[in-house]
Amino acid sequence: MATWLSNLFRPRINAIGLEIGGANIKAVDLGANHQLLNYAQRPTPPGLLQDGLVGDPEALGEELRALHKELRTRKKQVVTALANDVTVVRVIRVPKMSEKELEEAIPWEAERYIPFPIDEVVLDYALLDDPEEIEDQGEMEVLIAAAREETVMQLVEVLNSAGLEPVVIDLKPFAGLRPLEGQLKPEEEEGANPITLYLEVGHTATSLVLLKGERPLLSRSIGIAGKEFTQAIARSFNLPMEEAEEVKREYALATLSTEDEEALLDFGEVEQGRPTPSDIYAAIRPVLIDLSTEVRRSLEFFSAQGETQTPDQAFITGGGSKLKGLKGVLSDVLGIHFNDVNPWAALKVDTGRFEPGLLEDAAAEFTVPVGLALRGVSRVG
Ligand SMILES: Nc1ncnc2c1ncn2[C@@H]1O[C@H](COP(=O)(O)OP(=O)(O)OP(=O)(O)O)[C@@H](O)[C@H]1O
Ligand SMILES: [Mg+2]
Repeated sequence: MATWLSNLFRPRINAIGLEIGGANIKAVDLGANHQLLNYAQRPTPPGLLQDGLVGDPEALGEELRALHKELRTRKKQVVTALANDVTVVRVIRVPKMSEKELEEAIPWEAERYIPFPIDEVVLDYALLDDPEEIEDQGEMEVLIAAAREETVMQLVEVLNSAGLEPVVIDLKPFAGLRPLEGQLKPEEEEGANPITLYLEVGHTATSLVLLKGERPLLSRSIGIAGKEFTQAIARSFNLPMEEAEEVKREYALATLSTEDEEALLDFGEVEQGRPTPSDIYAAIRPVLIDLSTEVRRSLEFFSAQGETQTPDQAFITGGGSKLKGLKGVLSDVLGIHFNDVNPWAALKVDTGRFEPGLLEDAAAEFTVPVGLALRGVSRVG
């Protein structure tokens, strides 16, 4: 059985973090002591990715080459991740057994959670419990990750065609947690570890992770993110996606503004016939409801498993989270205060070289690629 998260590990790696996202292809290059050497992004050309798979390998290869050039690094090794919709990530329960037994049993234990034939997948897992601490008839929790072998091979081939060498294929939801490590509430005594909710709203998908202390309780991908909002605007006002994107960024507000607020918004540039904020709100409202419902369901699912408390802290990131008012709506609906993630805070940044304003603008989009890059400069084994 191939262990795709780990079989490419070296004791020490020195790799670029690379995220091939539905809207943006992003890379981060780190040096010693997590110093930011460079970062770059290019918009993902339409049609390049289809349902998380590579639609046009040649064009993607070219984009990757161009991005790599912008980074101005000699490094060829990359840590990257598959799209959420082509991976299965679950926390599963298995009977108590030794680590050795688990290694043999994992394909059978995992099979029923994986929607592809087990002999066509690459599967990796991490044991979350110490078998020695579990009572005899008890169960232990295992994090499993699986993807079709074909999908992984396709990604590896495209990277190779761009002169890049993948050393780790990571999971987006967990990569994005890495820059947060310093900001998580500290672990408390046994049983009282804080619950953290992490939401990364990208373009094609939203990753949701619940942690207890540093232990994953739940990881889900929700197929509602920035693209859904743009599509809703495009449909309602019969606009091409590029224009709808512009309308979303400039004028969309996830809360219904009062007439007074509308008057205060700067519409100097708006030509006649441009949708008003309340029209736009009406267009995106169903998407807002779907997204908050999905998040609430995940929290309910988790409460139903016996963990009753609401999260002690919550973080939101990803480009899609920049939709004005989104954080407020989610906070209201879920009764949780959301903090932004500043991935750059996990790095040493020379502000003489990198303009703080630009870094701040790109923070939400760069949480995942910074997390991938952090994996690329750490010791693994
Ligand atoms: N100011 C803004 N207001 C609203 N949405 C924004 C804003 N800036 C960026 N976005 C949205 O963020 C999304 C891009 O974010 P990001 O780069 O995190 O996605 P991605 O990594 O390419 O996608 P994915 O990982 O889901 O495949 C787009 O949907 C874009 O419309
Ligand atoms: Mg992304």
